[in-house]
Amino acid sequence: MGSKNIMQEQVIIDKQKCTGCGLCVTICPYRVISATGEVVEHSGVACFLCDHCRAVCPQGAITTLGQSSLLGLTTMEEKTEVVRPGTSNGPELVALMRSRRSCRQYQEKAVPLAMLLDLVKIGTTAPSGTNSQGWNFVILPSRRDILTLGDRVSDYYRKLNRMAANALLRGLVKIFGGDSLGRYYRNYFDSVSEALRQWEEEGTDRLFHGAVAAILVTGKKTASCPAEDALLATQNILLAAHAMGLGSCLIGFAVEAMRRNRAMRQKMEVPEDEEIYSVIALGFPAIAYLRHAGRKVIEPRIVRSIVSKQ
Ligand SMILES: Cc1cc2nc3c(=O)[nH]c(=O)nc-3n(C[C@H](O)[C@H](O)[C@H](O)COP(=O)(O)O)c2cc1C
Repeated sequence: MGSKNIMQEQVIIDKQKCTGCGLCVTICPYRVISATGEVVEHSGVACFLCDHCRAVCPQGAITTLGQSSLLGLTTMEEKTEVVRPGTSNGPELVALMRSRRSCRQYQEKAVPLAMLLDLVKIGTTAPSGTNSQGWNFVILPSRRDILTLGDRVSDYYRKLNRMAANALLRGLVKIFGGDSLGRYYRNYFDSVSEALRQWEEEGTDRLFHGAVAAILVTGKKTASCPAEDALLATQNILLAAHAMGLGSCLIGFAVEAMRRNRAMRQKMEVPEDEEIYSVIALGFPAIAYLRHAGRKVIEPRIVRSIVSKQ
């Protein structure tokens, strides 16, 4: 079966190898590859480089430029074989998911930078809206950096607590901008005051829990779903961290402070066109869990037939 060389900006189909089987045509979510008889062609419309055509081609005839099929992991073996649906170890996977717990006690031992770099690469295996891959990552590799960030975040909450303690201000904010300050006062004021006191007087780290490294996950504001993309990458990082022997904890308090403080974002080298979506504290865990934590029993709503309800 003949075919011709198809070269779109970043997708190349090798005419010598292509047999015109049309699998790439079937799989393409953008429908930018088409087959006319034995000739496979690209419409020329820019695709979002999902790489499915290359991944499915039995002949290995497709190359996508500008992306790497290897993550380039250095701290673990990188398997290149695809795990086919239904062939992986389901119970192991669920046990891994359940065994990953938020870690709030860490050893002082530093996390090698190579592990942090691998975690970031693993994060990028997540799905992203229109395959934008618009995430980015900031690595804080040392406890000293965490402490500096902790100081800045503490400054933010000290100011916020001063405002929240003012009943008049809470009332005014409620009239003009909703009850956010009141809610903060009711839910967090006391515990944050106590955490700040412990930070200042005892050097106890109630924010990062003594973590020795952190990864900040950011996303391009212009991406279609930057928050979802960043959080999916985050979950990959959390699971991989556990598999690599690391403890992790999401630090929403730090995310909130950094989102509202431009100077802090600049200090962390987060550019103006990016938003911060998660802060992941990391380190080797000092305490091992012996059993899985319970979860609330969920009762999903099952829609038997939407049609009959119309
Ligand atoms: C969006 C988000 C923000 C969080 N922020 C914090 C935080 O600031 N500090 C903290 O100690 N834990 C934080 N956590 C961890 C949760 O408390 C934790 O996931 C939850 O208690 C369930 O425990 P597990 O992670 O061990 O399953 C956060 C979790 C999420 C999902």
